[in-house]
Amino acid sequence: MKRQIFIGGAWPYANYFLHVGHVAALLPGDIIAKYYRSNNDEVIYVSGSDCHGTPITLRAKEEKKEPKEIASFYHEEFRKTFDNLDFEYDEYSSTMSEYHEKYVQKMFLRLVQNEYIYEKEVEQDYCEHCNKFLSDREIIGTCPHCGGISTGDQCENCNASLNSSEVINKKCKECSNLTTLKNNKHLYFKLSSFKDVLQNLINKNKNTWRNNALGEAQKYLNLGLLDRAATRQLEWGIPVPVKGYEDKRIYVWIEAVMGYLSVGQEVADKRSIDFSKFINDDNPNLRTYYVHGKDNIPFHTIIFPALIKGLNLNYRLPDYIISSEYVNLNDKKMSKSKGNLITANELLEMFESDTIRFYLTLKGPEKNDSNCTIDDIIQIHNKFLVGTIGNFVNRNLSFINKKFAGTIKEGQIDNNVINLTKDKFREVGNLIEKGELKSALNNIVDYAMFANKYYDENQPWIKVKENIDEFNNITYTCVFIMLNLAKLLYPFIPNGSKKIRKILGLNENITWDVENISGDIKIQNLDILYKFIEN
Ligand code: MF3
Ligand code: ZN
Repeated sequence: MKRQIFIGGAWPYANYFLHVGHVAALLPGDIIAKYYRSNNDEVIYVSGSDCHGTPITLRAKEEKKEPKEIASFYHEEFRKTFDNLDFEYDEYSSTMSEYHEKYVQKMFLRLVQNEYIYEKEVEQDYCEHCNKFLSDREIIGTCPHCGGISTGDQCENCNASLNSSEVINKKCKECSNLTTLKNNKHLYFKLSSFKDVLQNLINKNKNTWRNNALGEAQKYLNLGLLDRAATRQLEWGIPVPVKGYEDKRIYVWIEAVMGYLSVGQEVADKRSIDFSKFINDDNPNLRTYYVHGKDNIPFHTIIFPALIKGLNLNYRLPDYIISSEYVNLNDKKMSKSKGNLITANELLEMFESDTIRFYLTLKGPEKNDSNCTIDDIIQIHNKFLVGTIGNFVNRNLSFINKKFAGTIKEGQIDNNVINLTKDKFREVGNLIEKGELKSALNNIVDYAMFANKYYDENQPWIKVKENIDEFNNITYTCVFIMLNLAKLLYPFIPNGSKKIRKILGLNENITWDVENISGDIKIQNLDILYKFIEN
């Protein structure tokens, strides 16, 4: 039975290049997508660039450019970077797309109609001189805790997260005049009415959401849910489709998480399938995955599920929350301002995509913060890709090339090996489905180590002189392992995986199951799988 798999990768803010932390957090989505596709399930894997919101407008101000220019530039950069990392989204869109804007406005009105959005008057900081309401970031004042300089929502000195009402001596950033308070109307989302739904959701997914997600979501619920402003006093963003709100925009997080649905719908339209059936909560063959870093957890476990419920379309809530911890760099927190950051492009200049993908799965922040160093990447590459996987392929095939002009004679495959291999597909598949990618990859590494041991113990270089039938059986078994090792590795390191198939003269069509071989096999030009990296 074909299953329906929906995977949403978080939408990175288009205000700077992707860094190693983004890649580590988003990579699980691509691995899971590749796995399910190879298993012949129906996958919709979507993401895009998050182009609205203050991070982009601030950057635009810094660079004296329009927000749109900044966002478009990084959006194109993201596309290239994901491509170079061999990510295969079914659609990588942008919150600036017309389709998304129309979709979000339509759904926003649906929430209004369902009475989950209501109008509320709130006092807001205002500048009489500039004649405008000020967002938190347009305010400068004094931190009530340390006396340092602070914006309307955060102290730049002690980093305390603040409410603009606590900030002392607030001034307009632009003209330095003291701010006043003035009534402003906003639209609010009735988050408070979803308390029970969200508690049930947490309880139901105890075994499928990562622990950090369960913990954060519960913490959030325990604090008591407050209704949330769904509009912001901004010019950059999606216009609010309600009369009297022309000077405001839809809150960026509400709009961004809806991107999963807008792009999911877009992909379904293109495939001529019914998205509302695909994503329907009653579809017994559906699984939904959301993949992001831990700072995104409340938005995916609280806000997004509440919005889905509010839409009342009977769409499935998140089944799996794949929320990564952070990557530190050289034992320090990554920070752009402190210069402690490594971008994905910089990594790609040093390493091939397989190396990055392998490293970030094996040593990534799946359950704990991880520490990334260049030395460590080199070591992992040399030890596993070269020493374990590459070595197994090379020692077998170069021997055949040398002694038998590249022809592998048909032999009998060891039955124990066939059974072990069958188990591997089942075990690794189950782990990937649960989002336990580190264990999945370790399990495959064990298989590769078993392969080398099998070779060592059976000593084909001696058997070749003593008993050619036995030699052929051993070698054929090794080739069988090699081929299936390549298949198991495909979601993690697609390039090396395809290369092995190519060397063995097999097509690129990878299916998640034991693959048998028969007849003689001719080695196509044998090429080193991974090159040793000098330190
Ligand atoms: N732009 C956000 C960030 O980088 C993530 C948004 S995920 C979305 O933290 F799905 F809401 F778009
Ligand atoms: Zn002003």
